[in-house]
Amino acid sequence: MLVFGVGVCSGGSLRKNFYKKTCPKAEETVRNFIWGQLSNGNNSALPAKLLRLHFHDCFVRGCDASILLNSTSNSTAEKDAVPNLTLAGFDILDRLKALLESKCQGQVSCADILALAARDAVSFQYKRPLWEVLTGRRDGNVSLASEVGPNLPSPSSNVTLLRQNFANKGLALKDLVVLSGAHTIGVGHCGIITNRLYNFTGKGDSDPSLNSTYVAFLKTKCPNPPNFTITVGMDPNSSLSFDNHYFEILKEHKGFFISDATLLTNANSRFFVDQMQNSRNFFTEFAASMKRMGDIGVLAGKAGEIRKICSKTNS
Ligand code: HEM
Ligand SMILES: *[C@@H]1O[C@H](CO)[C@@H](O)[C@H](O)[C@H]1NC(C)=O
Ligand SMILES: *[C@@H]1O[C@H](CO)[C@@H](O)[C@H](O)[C@H]1NC(C)=O
Ligand SMILES: *[C@@H]1O[C@H](CO)[C@@H](O)[C@H](O)[C@H]1NC(C)=O
Ligand SMILES: *[C@@H]1O[C@H](CO)[C@@H](O)[C@H](O)[C@H]1NC(C)=O
Ligand SMILES: *[C@@H]1O[C@H](CO)[C@@H](O)[C@H](O)[C@H]1NC(C)=O
Ligand SMILES: *[C@@H]1O[C@H](CO)[C@@H](O)[C@H](O)[C@H]1NC(C)=O
Ligand SMILES: *[C@@H]1O[C@H](CO)[C@@H](O)[C@H](O)[C@H]1NC(C)=O
Ligand SMILES: *[C@@H]1O[C@H](CO)[C@@H](O)[C@H](O)[C@H]1NC(C)=O
Ligand SMILES: *[C@@H]1O[C@H](CO)[C@@H](O)[C@H](O)[C@H]1NC(C)=O
Ligand SMILES: *[C@@H]1O[C@H](CO)[C@@H](O)[C@H](O)[C@H]1NC(C)=O
Repeated sequence: MLVFGVGVCSGGSLRKNFYKKTCPKAEETVRNFIWGQLSNGNNSALPAKLLRLHFHDCFVRGCDASILLNSTSNSTAEKDAVPNLTLAGFDILDRLKALLESKCQGQVSCADILALAARDAVSFQYKRPLWEVLTGRRDGNVSLASEVGPNLPSPSSNVTLLRQNFANKGLALKDLVVLSGAHTIGVGHCGIITNRLYNFTGKGDSDPSLNSTYVAFLKTKCPNPPNFTITVGMDPNSSLSFDNHYFEILKEHKGFFISDATLLTNANSRFFVDQMQNSRNFFTEFAASMKRMGDIGVLAGKAGEIRKICSKTNS
């Protein structure tokens, strides 16, 4: 058996409908459960939560559901690392896992459940899958808070650093730009951008790369000194709609984080930002990039295990 997963990508070990024989209704079950959660409009934040969880999972140790493990007495898990603000959705995934265990015990990995659930939650708005999710991921045994910092991109990084970060995961500059479009949904904590608004260079100024109209708007939401409980929509007028609007406001200099704004500072990344002004391009490219992201460092074959409970390893 080849043990993939220690390297950067799975080398194509994932398959279409991996559970066809072992759990034929697995994908349908995930979709129905997630769409059920969204159907009465009471959980509109869920798509962003699950999409971000999937991203954090894949960038730290590969897409192996390490983000879902709880800390143990001798090990602090990824979910308890410092940049875990607003991480959520764990309870829903635990319930979905229990449902799948009741139908097909010991078959469907938490890593696949997360990848499918993120796709289905984001797709609910359109009632059709926005990207293909190949399956066959297995679950890892290890989750370390100390691995989050070195692997997860920082909101204060410039494009050079972000590009390197993505390259370390086998992803290209285009993937960086396209996947940053995920910030078309969801919220960010005001506290992270306090400096951009109030004291960018230590002279009581705001970040000159931020649109002044937007600065004025954000100041009404984000006080100084910061209140770390306050969040704002990163795409303020359409933070519940998954679309290419992120790229439209980015060009108006309304990128929420430095890591968003910086995509305009490099001719190559700006080229992709321009391409993403076209909605069809965005959906096509986002689908392709998500497939690549979902392939990072996956455990396949006999590596890892199929967890019984997503928040703890079997042994
Ligand atoms: C390019 C590097 C990236 C950086 C530096 C970054 C950073 C961040 C930060 C700091 C937040 C706000 C966290 C908070 O304040 O609670 C956030 C939110 C979010 N990110 Fe990213 N991110 C990046 C890429 C991605 C990618 C590739 C995806 C998914 C494909 C993604 C999906 C999300 C989503 C959906 C949210 C909103 C979460 C919510 O509403 O709770 N991000 N990101
Ligand atoms: C939303 O509604 C669904 C279906 O009625 C329910 O299962 C779920 O627990 C609710 N979620 C929240 C956050 O209230
Ligand atoms: C943590 O403890 C468990 C048993 O309590 C052991 O199996 C595991 O190897 C330990 N992990 C580390 C990283 O020391
Ligand atoms: C984030 O980590 C802290 C401990 O550092 C923990 O108390 C908190 O529950 C974590 N948040 C989430 C959403 O897991
Ligand atoms: C990007 O950030 C890194 C690390 O902070 C720094 O060394 C580098 O000079 C920056 N690059 C540009 C083009 O600003
Ligand atoms: C701005 O930053 C400078 C340098 O870090 C600091 O001395 C000053 O007190 C800050 N001003 C405000 C209003 O936060
Ligand atoms: C911070 O904001 C929350 C609302 O998000 C509010 O309830 C709380 O009073 C604020 N705290 C301070 C110190 O202003
Ligand atoms: C949101 O929409 C309003 C009304 O069209 C507009 O004035 C405002 O500039 C928009 N906000 C942002 C951040 O683009
Ligand atoms: C700032 O935003 C306004 C709309 O809110 C827009 O008309 C203007 O072109 C933007 N300015 C820059 C420099 O992008
Ligand atoms: C996880 O633990 C199981 C059982 O202890 C073991 O068979 C498997 O090799 C471990 N996987 C990894 C990736 O360490
Ligand atoms: C993991 O932590 C969550 C939140 O604290 C808790 O609800 C869940 O029961 C824990 N899982 C296990 C297996 O203890």
